[in-house]
Amino acid sequence: MPDLAWWRSAAIYQLYVRSFADGNGDGIGDLAGVRAHLPYLAGLGIDAIWFNPWYPSPMSDAGYDISDYRDIDPVFGTLADADALIAEAHALGIRIIIDIVPNHGSDRHPWFLGALAASPGSAERDRFWFRPGRGPAGDLPPNDWQSIFGGPAWTRITEPDNSPGQWYLHLFAPEQPDFNWANPAVRAEFEDVLRFWFDRGADGIRIDSAALLSKDAALPEVTPDQPPGPAHPHTDRDDVHEIYRSWRALADGYQGRVLIGEIWIPDAARLARYMSPGELHTVFNFPYLSCPWDAARLREVIDHTLALHAPVGAAATWVLSNHDVDRIVSRYGRADTAFSLERRAYFHSLPTDLELGTRRARAAALLTMALPGSVYVYQGEELGLWEVQDIPDERRQDPIWRRTHGADPGRDGSRVPLPWAGAEPPFGFSPGEPWLPQPKEWRDLTVEAEAGKPGSMLELYRAALALRRAEPGLGDGPMTWLPAGDGVLAFDRGHFYRGPGVPGPGVPGPGVPGAGVRCVVNVSATAVRLPEHAGLLLASGPLDGELLPPDSAVWLRRSS
Ligand code: GLC
Ligand code: CA
Repeated sequence: MPDLAWWRSAAIYQLYVRSFADGNGDGIGDLAGVRAHLPYLAGLGIDAIWFNPWYPSPMSDAGYDISDYRDIDPVFGTLADADALIAEAHALGIRIIIDIVPNHGSDRHPWFLGALAASPGSAERDRFWFRPGRGPAGDLPPNDWQSIFGGPAWTRITEPDNSPGQWYLHLFAPEQPDFNWANPAVRAEFEDVLRFWFDRGADGIRIDSAALLSKDAALPEVTPDQPPGPAHPHTDRDDVHEIYRSWRALADGYQGRVLIGEIWIPDAARLARYMSPGELHTVFNFPYLSCPWDAARLREVIDHTLALHAPVGAAATWVLSNHDVDRIVSRYGRADTAFSLERRAYFHSLPTDLELGTRRARAAALLTMALPGSVYVYQGEELGLWEVQDIPDERRQDPIWRRTHGADPGRDGSRVPLPWAGAEPPFGFSPGEPWLPQPKEWRDLTVEAEAGKPGSMLELYRAALALRRAEPGLGDGPMTWLPAGDGVLAFDRGHFYRGPGVPGPGVPGPGVPGAGVRCVVNVSATAVRLPEHAGLLLASGPLDGELLPPDSAVWLRRSS
């Protein structure tokens, strides 16, 4: 694997272990299941896998509440399984990215148990945010910060002598106490955890909730509508960058390791700071993920993204979905095709046309994979799975659903186990009952049903990923917009010469005749004529001669 900047162009598969494949029959996906299906991923044509957290965890937030950062949860397997998996993936040319959750741990983490057993003001408590309550009896939380999952961001403990005690901060669920990043022991611990996984062969780190680590120790109230930034008490504060500078120095001590930030902040310039030289390599493109199916809005987001990345020299990422948001087929089948975490209930209340959503998702896949930079594929996206909105209440697992008393339906609908084969649930996912129920209609969306079937989502993804890898103009590199009518996106990729056998992003130059890709996406309601081209490489749906129907996309061979 010689290409040290592999992440600039990579196609990264997001693998949600719990729902990928169950190797031992308990209804929960595991590392044995992943190992058994690595050939599937190699055949899909991806370059890397990002694993959602696989560590020991009480699973109060599906593994984002970690009690040991240096091991594998027994539900998923063992450290030896992870070692074997990393080696097998590497042998197939697939890199491994793991999820690190630095903002908070589990309330079962030995440090937190130690803090509970220690006294107020102790070194053990200082690794978290323990504070006395307000009011004469201390029975009001230290401030009014709200948890991102609903309810107050503080929970009161009982002191070891059984008296009502201090409160601790949790920006997410109470089972996820926030670490105090002002404490050097916290910093040292996480640097050691990074080394632990880099030494085991991890090629990259996805950093969970990366903008939240630094807090204003005075813990002032958040004023209404206060934007993230230096004045915010817990989101996107300036000194968080110092943490990532030291992580980058650490990562640079290895070869070809990538740091990827999960950062949901609206201010583009503030976002770009995370990718300054000497900090993170890339961040997830949430503005693109949240963008409605609208040509003008898409173009705006694409232009903003590229403008944001160019000055810092970072590679853009393109993401349509993940384990926290509604699946793209459902989103694009609604009258309102946008998405925001805060308005999930509203989006779920809209009727969904799955056929329309699927057509658009196919076009969006070709758009996404033609854009400059790296691309993410969330497991099941390649099968065209939709958001499962009718999970029975008693089967729902997401703390968001519980903590909002059902006002927010939560994220379970995007986490339903994959359908692999067969005519009915559990569709080869597991011999047993899957941890979330699968819709019986997924019989047409199993890997078995789609493999080799012309026009299936799986074959579209396979073809697009194969071309994306083979075409020197795709992945990282320049792009040029072409004139196009309203509702149409058209652009060229590959304005550079790459000599035969020359690796890397290529040398800017006049372009090679017969090389390069022209992508056209019709987001409008009427068919449009294709621009000049030298042949069709791939289409998201049937063409009508030289006409591109609505909600379709093509990759063409450039004619000049
Ligand atoms: C991130 C994860 C999400 C998790 C949260 C708390 O947003 O993607 O799944 O619940 O952080 O760790
Ligand atoms: Ca299992």
